[in-house]
Amino acid sequence: MNIEDKLTKPDSSPETYEIEDVAFIGRTLDEYVRMFDLDLDDLADASILDCPSGACAFVAEATKRGISAVGADVMYRSDYDDLDERGEVDIEMALEGFDGVEDLFEWEFYGNVDGVRERWTNAYETFIDDYPAGLASERYVPAKLPSLPFEDDEFTLTLSAHLLLLYADRLSHEFHVESLRELARVTENEVRVYPLADFEGTPYARLDEILDALEEDGHGVEIKAVPFEFQRGASDILVIDCA
Ligand SMILES: C[S@@+](CC[C@H](N)C(=O)[O-])C[C@H]1O[C@@H](n2cnc3c(N)ncnc32)[C@H](O)[C@@H]1O
Repeated sequence: MNIEDKLTKPDSSPETYEIEDVAFIGRTLDEYVRMFDLDLDDLADASILDCPSGACAFVAEATKRGISAVGADVMYRSDYDDLDERGEVDIEMALEGFDGVEDLFEWEFYGNVDGVRERWTNAYETFIDDYPAGLASERYVPAKLPSLPFEDDEFTLTLSAHLLLLYADRLSHEFHVESLRELARVTENEVRVYPLADFEGTPYARLDEILDALEEDGHGVEIKAVPFEFQRGASDILVIDCA
């Protein structure tokens, strides 16, 4: 069974899938730095979009470091109490999903399931502490892919983790193409997407078609190795050059 499967409605098709049922969890800054191969010193003048941002610490931590960052997620339409409850529940449900499928993961970084819990709880607590002030100052923006409420080239760098290409069994190919085009539209320089495979480590089957579509739009595309692997085989990002 896939991690996070318990969080999704079993009878889902691309047409009927309730997108809000994707796990509302998030990663720490450290995880983002590794999975997107970021150098924070290079980002002092960047304007970063994290979409979907979920219960991530990235926006809060980047903001503390003086880096301009905005998180966008469909769940930010919910009120604070719902998010608070959902964040805690979803971490535990996601962790239960590791039972019996430990071999699908590389444990060097996290050590064990408790190590994952510690990081994701830390991320969630950092996010939820920052959320009320961040929502008020539009550092957190309710938004639903494939359409984003941002201007063309509003951000210099966009990061997108653990939605696109991962939930390939329930999000349509058209949704993927439209969403990636939309992320590229709002980005001046670069979009980075992680991972490129589903929970079993199976690469997204129609990635070539996605790359063709993005190239037809005039974007450069590159698959680049990153210094992070948790889902076995998921150690690459897609880089879309929008410049
Ligand atoms: C597993 S979390 C990933 C969060 C974060 N990027 C990370 O890597 O930890 C997936 C997120 O996608 C959000 N989501 C699902 N469908 C979406 C959509 N159509 N537009 C924006 N966010 C969406 C969910 O609310 C959830 O917070």
